[in-house]
Amino acid sequence: MRPDEASRIEGDDGSRTTPSQKKWAALRRRPRRTTILRYNKAMPRYHRLGQLPRYRHTQFRKPNGELYSEQLFSTRGFSGPMATMYHINLPTEVAGWEDIGDVSVKFLTDEALRHRHLKTRTMPARGDALSGRIPLMGNNDVIWYQVHVAEQMKDFYKNAEGDELLFVHNGSGVCETMFGDINFSPGDYLVIPRGTIYRMQFDSLPTMMLAIESHGPIEIPNRYRNEVGQLLEHAPYSERDIRPPHELKTYDQEGEFHVIVKARKRHTRYTYRFHPFDIVGWDGFCYPWAFNIKDFAPITGKLHMPPPIHQTFHGHNFVICSFCPRILDFHPDAIVVPYNHSNVDSDEVLYYCNDKFGSRKGIEEGSITLHPLGIPHGPQPGAVEASIGATKTEELAVMLDTYYPLMLTEQALALEDPNYWKSWQTKQLSGV
Ligand SMILES: [Fe+2]
Repeated sequence: MRPDEASRIEGDDGSRTTPSQKKWAALRRRPRRTTILRYNKAMPRYHRLGQLPRYRHTQFRKPNGELYSEQLFSTRGFSGPMATMYHINLPTEVAGWEDIGDVSVKFLTDEALRHRHLKTRTMPARGDALSGRIPLMGNNDVIWYQVHVAEQMKDFYKNAEGDELLFVHNGSGVCETMFGDINFSPGDYLVIPRGTIYRMQFDSLPTMMLAIESHGPIEIPNRYRNEVGQLLEHAPYSERDIRPPHELKTYDQEGEFHVIVKARKRHTRYTYRFHPFDIVGWDGFCYPWAFNIKDFAPITGKLHMPPPIHQTFHGHNFVICSFCPRILDFHPDAIVVPYNHSNVDSDEVLYYCNDKFGSRKGIEEGSITLHPLGIPHGPQPGAVEASIGATKTEELAVMLDTYYPLMLTEQALALEDPNYWKSWQTKQLSGV
């Protein structure tokens, strides 16, 4: 018997294997971490509202004996996050449709590389939460719309080709969805999976908000979650901060109801005979939810912490971070504003919810700065020295970092502070 044969042991299936082979076999049998995360990362947890039959795909009848209509709601075939819902009427019945037209964003592809500052505060309010969207920048992964809402939405809306992240700067109201109502207030992020029919209703107008449209799903970062998707102790928020729809309102109404569907970069207005929120119950892992930026618990340190510490969401080729009021770095010699950095592989966008940003001069509430990849940025002259001794910050900002360049739109140029790129000059140079 050779030495290696002496160490062979009996396998589960009666075959003879070495300890090393058994170890690898065990690893292969173990559920793969990536597989588990893929199925758990998109939504915080299983949720259900309303009435459900005991088993899926079985007879579920109304009080009058007719069948409810079951619908599987999925964002990625039959294997992505899903919900199963039960309609009073057929969700497939359409009374008519009307092509509204092309809504693709026209990006500027010949703009020079330079730092940008857009001032959005004085944008006039116009339209509703959909028609008022002004595209400012984007790429193949994400589009940033600025919205100063003037009117309530009358029609319902469904984005069938992108997930949406809405950020409510000010104002409050209710986001009515097919999954139920979500109340919102200033600082709320609303994460809306593609395919969700919804309508924003505001308590007062005008209201400032952002609409970020994502080609891929908007998710909670993997590094905040364990193998079953639960938020970890070091995550800057917990499941208690996630607000799914809290009340399912079922409308058994016949009439004329319009749903604007975004797909193929066009809007099509669908007319239905029955109210689209005729759902008596649903359950699953796919639904809209809210998280308020004030519930983000900043992680602070002895020395300056980099932007990833503020990460809130993850998208395809981009991240969203929240810069919130916090205690600053506590080393006695700490410089509490960011060091200059060369973001050679990402474009950085900051949306300022107030003007209390220690490292940045000249910004105001509603400002947007875009620091594109390829040129360094950092605090303006004097900001480092002025920051020394500060123990806390009241800054509040939303950050979008993309791995691929963002292109601006004509509408963005109309809001631009053309002298922003000069704000790092230590003396005024002649000829510029
Ligand atoms: Fe930066």
